[in-house]
Amino acid sequence: MERDIGIYYVSKHGQTEKIAHFLGECFGGLGWDVYVTDLRSDSGTPDVSSFSAVLVGAPVYMERYPRVLRRFVAAHRMQLMAAPVTGFFSTCLTATPSTREAHLESLRPAREFLEEVSWTPDWLASFPGALNFRQYGPLQRWILKRISRRAGGPTDASRDYEFTRWDEVARFAKDLHDDRVDSPYRAERIALATRALDELMPEFEQRMVQEIAVHASPDEVRSAIESTELADMPMAQIVQSIRNLGRRWQDPSARFAQAAAGFGAFPIHMKHTHEVAGALIGQFRKRDYGIRRMQNQEDFKAFSDPGYTKALTNFWFDDYRDDRTILRTETRIHSLGTRARRRFHGYWTMASPGVRLYMGSVLRGIARSAVRRRQQHHPLAA
Ligand SMILES: Cc1cc2nc3c(=O)[nH]c(=O)nc-3n(C[C@H](O)[C@H](O)[C@H](O)COP(=O)(O)O)c2cc1C
Repeated sequence: MERDIGIYYVSKHGQTEKIAHFLGECFGGLGWDVYVTDLRSDSGTPDVSSFSAVLVGAPVYMERYPRVLRRFVAAHRMQLMAAPVTGFFSTCLTATPSTREAHLESLRPAREFLEEVSWTPDWLASFPGALNFRQYGPLQRWILKRISRRAGGPTDASRDYEFTRWDEVARFAKDLHDDRVDSPYRAERIALATRALDELMPEFEQRMVQEIAVHASPDEVRSAIESTELADMPMAQIVQSIRNLGRRWQDPSARFAQAAAGFGAFPIHMKHTHEVAGALIGQFRKRDYGIRRMQNQEDFKAFSDPGYTKALTNFWFDDYRDDRTILRTETRIHSLGTRARRRFHGYWTMASPGVRLYMGSVLRGIARSAVRRRQQHHPLAA
């Protein structure tokens, strides 16, 4: 079967460009039709949705990617999600995957970017790039010497260095071509906070993300999410009572999870152990929220009655470093039909500051509860 691949890249000093073309040669050698496109001079490129596979590549600059990358992925997000195979490759200096931790660390900018734009590619790689000291101005040279020194790299600015290990790049192409199940470049091996959300609700109009650092392990955070009481989140209670016009004040000793279930939210079974999620369907601008009760996530995914709005919230707590867990929550909203979308948009303009306060209070409540549990179980850790 004939296969074609679109390789889209952005490059400031040429190394990502070199990698993109090298990948193109690899795929060409494997019998693919190859289209390599510079995102900065994109003109008349075949459409993203026309390829059997799409790769996107970009270099890390000051821990981030060039803006044109964000614009491209945001503009083509749904096409990328629908493409049969997609991959993201990142070029940076600190790509030294000698240990699993180092490998994950080298992927940090890529993971943050993918979570920010909410794109879950099938393949993911971080390749070491180059230090082109002789191309840099004095400020860049100074910055790069510092970055390189910190990474244990060279600091002699009188010459250029290339770190790219071309055999790794070739292996990435070959693994993708062979669809190798045990490849280290398979993105599913890398935990992403948005993966399950992208599966359950790829399309959404509104989105709210907040995070907090908790002095506890991921398992302690999980226990805290299960046992946190409404009394731990006073601001959430205030916001809710304002929204309910003072009615239906809830028992502060009730658990957050039970209160959410009582409201009509149902828990979603997550494959990942450091993630929990819940979903809700309703007409939220109505005084009683117009809740439609669902039994499970299949019902939730299949529900399509126009006029309703789906809401999905997760708590993600997989990022554990220096005895702290980053607890991240994301809420996504998808309204069914243009009318519901328009109405919800108006409601969200009014309600989103309250929802932000509410979720912030929930996060702080969970953090408080996790630390308290730790102190009760290990008083010396306090
Ligand atoms: C100003 C500047 C900032 C950089 N910041 C980072 C960084 O934060 N992390 C990193 O790993 N590499 C960093 N790099 C290294 C680049 O990612 C590396 O040189 C890469 O090969 C550049 O790719 P390009 O030639 O396609 O632009 C930086 C390079 C420059 C010039």
